[in-house]
Amino acid sequence: MAEDTPVPESGGFLTNIVLEIVQSPLNIALLIAIAFLAFKILKRTHAVPAYHPPEPQLPKLRKDFTIEELKKFDGTQEDGRVLVAVNGNVYDVTKGKRFYGPGGPYSAFAGCDASRGLATFSVACKTDGYDDLSDLNSMEMESVREWEAQFKEKYEYVGRLLRPGEEPTNYSDDEEEEESSSAGNATVAGEGGGDKKKNE
Ligand code: HEM
Repeated sequence: MAEDTPVPESGGFLTNIVLEIVQSPLNIALLIAIAFLAFKILKRTHAVPAYHPPEPQLPKLRKDFTIEELKKFDGTQEDGRVLVAVNGNVYDVTKGKRFYGPGGPYSAFAGCDASRGLATFSVACKTDGYDDLSDLNSMEMESVREWEAQFKEKYEYVGRLLRPGEEPTNYSDDEEEEESSSAGNATVAGEGGGDKKKNE
């Protein structure tokens, strides 16, 4: 009759537990997994946070763009500004550079009219020239509008995407007005750009 591996009776409680554990390969595997996770957690707790210098704030841009002008703002140019057009409106998405900047998951949208890609769930700049989106169905157009609502909420509105031959609006009067009305008030850069002109 085969006998079980003897467990020394003289050992203390802890010794018995250790022996129990090392006798089973499953227990050893679990022990290694726990040690690994504990190591990861401790390492994270003691890790020195990496220093990311803040991105320099670019001056607010207020301008209408032709599709050719828009293309230059893909984040690879010197100032690193990134613009994206959605539904005929241009947004400054520089603060979302980790998405749209070079190497980002949506970098194809940088300097592009992203409407068609967003409508068709494709991460590609689907249009080279001006796209009037007239062949999109109502669901796709609804999707474009929903995406635009997200951009509007998160990013600064810059201006309209111009149709071929369309004249840009001169916003310098607006700016002077804004400057004089906000004189003395500290303005907070960031969310909630004013989109006075809207291209539906
Ligand atoms: C497997 C497919 C996908 C996954 C797992 C995914 C994942 C994500 C995640 C996690 C975010 C939020 C990131 C954050 O706020 O921190 C995001 C944002 C976004 N995704 Fe996707 N995505 C996918 C496909 C797509 C596709 C096909 C499109 C294009 C139509 C798209 C366009 C976007 C856009 C425009 C944003 C917003 C970025 C911003 O806040 O400016 N995604 N995605």
